[in-house]
Amino acid sequence: MEELGLSEATMRVRRGLKWHRYPDDILPAWVADMDFDVAEPVQAAIQRVVEQRDYGYTWREGEASLEVAFAERMQARFSWTVDPARVQPVVDLNQAVTALILAFSEPGDGVVAQTPLYHPFLQTILGCGRRVIPNPLRDDGERLVLDVNGLERVARPPARILLICNPHNPSGRVLEREELQAIGRAAVANDLIVICDEIHADLVYEPHRHIPIATLSDEIAARTITITSATKSFNIPGLRCGVMHFGSPELQARFSRAIPSRLLGHPSGIGIDATIAAWRQGQPWLESVMRQLTINRDLVAAWAASIPSLRHHPPEATFLAWLDLSELELPGSSAHELFLQRARVALNAGQDFDVSGRHQCVRLNFATSSRILNQMLDRMTEALRSPTDPHLSNSESPLGVRS
Ligand SMILES: Cc1ncc(COP(=O)(O)O)c(C=O)c1O
Repeated sequence: MEELGLSEATMRVRRGLKWHRYPDDILPAWVADMDFDVAEPVQAAIQRVVEQRDYGYTWREGEASLEVAFAERMQARFSWTVDPARVQPVVDLNQAVTALILAFSEPGDGVVAQTPLYHPFLQTILGCGRRVIPNPLRDDGERLVLDVNGLERVARPPARILLICNPHNPSGRVLEREELQAIGRAAVANDLIVICDEIHADLVYEPHRHIPIATLSDEIAARTITITSATKSFNIPGLRCGVMHFGSPELQARFSRAIPSRLLGHPSGIGIDATIAAWRQGQPWLESVMRQLTINRDLVAAWAASIPSLRHHPPEATFLAWLDLSELELPGSSAHELFLQRARVALNAGQDFDVSGRHQCVRLNFATSSRILNQMLDRMTEALRSPTDPHLSNSESPLGVRS
């Protein structure tokens, strides 16, 4: 198989956030962007707009609309029948979550989050003046699973919304039918709204299967807003285009009454055309990306297994690895800081994914070439071997090996 992954030089010439936020001696494995070129049909769709200099207000109807393309994609991938009239385009999913929280809760209400959770969502809940009600995922020894008892305890006032991320970022879990049913039950029993982010649904490894929560039952769908986009799986996050799907006309009408429509803006023509090209013609490309990601996921798992006491459950989806180093008793303020300073590798800091703690966890983005990934992992091993600073807790390396 031909290895995928752009070179460091190519990535540094581009003007993406991932490769520019930190100094040039740092290898970035943080924000969820892939170091892979986009699918040719996506590039062709963008080129068409550029060649025609077609930059006026967009008009995309019927087959050329995002709503119809989304409905087709859901049918083809998940046998989920979607009415395009229930679909609302958005610029990005953080915008969608913000608008949905404002529409379906009041200041001071609670939003239940399965922590650790994709950090901008926690910031959004707090930024909207709502409370984060954590229901931490439980480590069952093999993976992080939904704490169903915990959910039943917290899924009641002041909670008004269950914010679900499935596949889950950062754990990479693909929630199983029983877990989704428990969420649906809790929502129905307590009259809660479900916001379900399914942006990673196309990045699922064999033998796991993504189930859109809105397919469980009409009763659950009627209180569910599903949000998604092509931006993660097809590596076009800078093009800013996504969708919200309302599980019933009543839910959609409630949203429209609460949020002035112009607040949502509109995705650009380039974003729409690229998304449609990705969904309709990007599958072969996605399959080659999944082959590379599988190799990289296994590299990370083997590396993690070589570090005594590091806890890691290989993801069932996503290109993100959640690494828990809390049993290593690392020196310094956080694992993120240690790897940044000593390995010169930028990961996401675990503490951002929870309302308390997780300083000894990090999230690693492995969507890069195996070469760059190996370089990062080697540097991280070295960082764990090197002696601690004299003023920190002890003079041994975090691995317990004197060097
Ligand atoms: C779970 C999840 N939801 C949403 C997003 C981002 O969505 P957007 O860029 O459309 O705001 C990300 C990006 O990494 C993500 O991982």
